[in-house]
Amino acid sequence: MNRRKFLQTSGLSLGAWPLASLLPAGARAQPLQSAAQPSSFPKGFLWGSATASYQVEGAAHQSGRGPSVWDTFSHTPGKTFNGDTGDVADDFYHLFPNDIKLMKGLGLTTCRFSVAWTRIFPGGVGQPNQQGIDFYSRLVDALLAAGIQPYCTLYHWDLPQALQDRGGWENRDTAKAFAEYAGFTAGALSDRVKHFMTMNEIRSFVELGYEQGIHAPGLRLDSQRVAQLNHYAVLAHGMSVQAIRAHGKPGTKVGIADNVQGTVPVVEVPKHIEAARRAMREQNASFLTVIEEGRYTDLYLKRLGANAPKFTAEEMQVIASPMDFVGLNIYQPTYIRADDSETGYAVIDPPSSFPHMYSPWLYVGPEVLYWAPKLVADIWKVKELYITENGASAADAIAPDGEVYDSDRVMYLRNYLTQLHRAIAEGVPVRGYFLWSLLDNFEWADGYSKRFGIVYVDFATQKRTPKLSATFYKKVIRDNLVK
Ligand code: NOJ
Repeated sequence: MNRRKFLQTSGLSLGAWPLASLLPAGARAQPLQSAAQPSSFPKGFLWGSATASYQVEGAAHQSGRGPSVWDTFSHTPGKTFNGDTGDVADDFYHLFPNDIKLMKGLGLTTCRFSVAWTRIFPGGVGQPNQQGIDFYSRLVDALLAAGIQPYCTLYHWDLPQALQDRGGWENRDTAKAFAEYAGFTAGALSDRVKHFMTMNEIRSFVELGYEQGIHAPGLRLDSQRVAQLNHYAVLAHGMSVQAIRAHGKPGTKVGIADNVQGTVPVVEVPKHIEAARRAMREQNASFLTVIEEGRYTDLYLKRLGANAPKFTAEEMQVIASPMDFVGLNIYQPTYIRADDSETGYAVIDPPSSFPHMYSPWLYVGPEVLYWAPKLVADIWKVKELYITENGASAADAIAPDGEVYDSDRVMYLRNYLTQLHRAIAEGVPVRGYFLWSLLDNFEWADGYSKRFGIVYVDFATQKRTPKLSATFYKKVIRDNLVK
């Protein structure tokens, strides 16, 4: 029973909530009983982990792989924590059979991985590199042999350096090159991979890489150039949806892994809920909104004025090419309140006391895993959703007994999954959950200083040690419920 229903059945109004403590003991026990009910997930719900090529593979110079913007950026002094690079990372390129055993041991039924564009086309375009295709083919075969369904992302930020040298995402031709690579790769793998995600977190690589300069390629462009390259990125997504459909085997499903800004009504009353709904569209105007609706919102175009992107009607149609599913990467909440402004809402900046995980941006707001899928499904009538990423960084350390007691990550996961269950129980069509991540890995500009794995990695020896959170997740998967 949710709080609203409890209030209704108990005859209390929200205003009277503090009086609950004055109720007779029997009445007070009611919500406790309902909270103790197990939160079973639907039969066949997929439990997985997510990962990305540059963050785990290593083998940076092996088997014909070309350089990406992240090789260049991480090797540029001062760009990453401690000068860390993904040259070796988790050496997943060589150790994946062992890591798949770990996945199987935990009971994972799916795994999201990404293909490095420069393993397939070392220079971004041209002749494909058979050794690159063979690697992903072996990976897919090994996953399937372990009973783990592969979900494949085609772009997780490792743009070929050769394309960046020609303007990267500022060059419209990059969108064309991406679609060709995506179509080719889907053609090669879709006899066994049934789900492809075009791109991971367009907002992140656009804003962090080309606007704030803290991710590769490390540029700080003005807002007009950023809006235009953002347009080419969403166009690349749409073009690749079409290319995957054209080259994929029958039954291939196409979607995206989007870090939608997860708007959460600060208090669950109608006016704030309505504000969060509006905010979901506006805060994501140049990402999921334009992809779903094929148009930029009026407020977005008005806000940018002369800096708005130039586009054609045909491009807008391509951007909105229908998808089979939407993947959401959900971490921190964006709390919204209603106000009288033109947008009808205001974003509440987290007070300095707001709790966060080890990464300072990772505010803890479990209810975002309820609201984000719910609003996305409601607004755009999405029929198949996945949580393509959710997880937490923690200051993990090996205890004297050899264990890693990441109680904070367990707390985080338990609470977020409880909220996800709440959404599913209300009929939100979430079909699977990918925890970020199985292994500690290269956390971009934070290098190896921020650990997100449920398995601890000693980067000097490549030894893997499952943490307490791995035990927790294993139990969630085994019982198909969270408590
Ligand atoms: C989002 C990104 O997709 C992933 O690459 C990153 O490591 C995690 N979030 C954690 O920051």
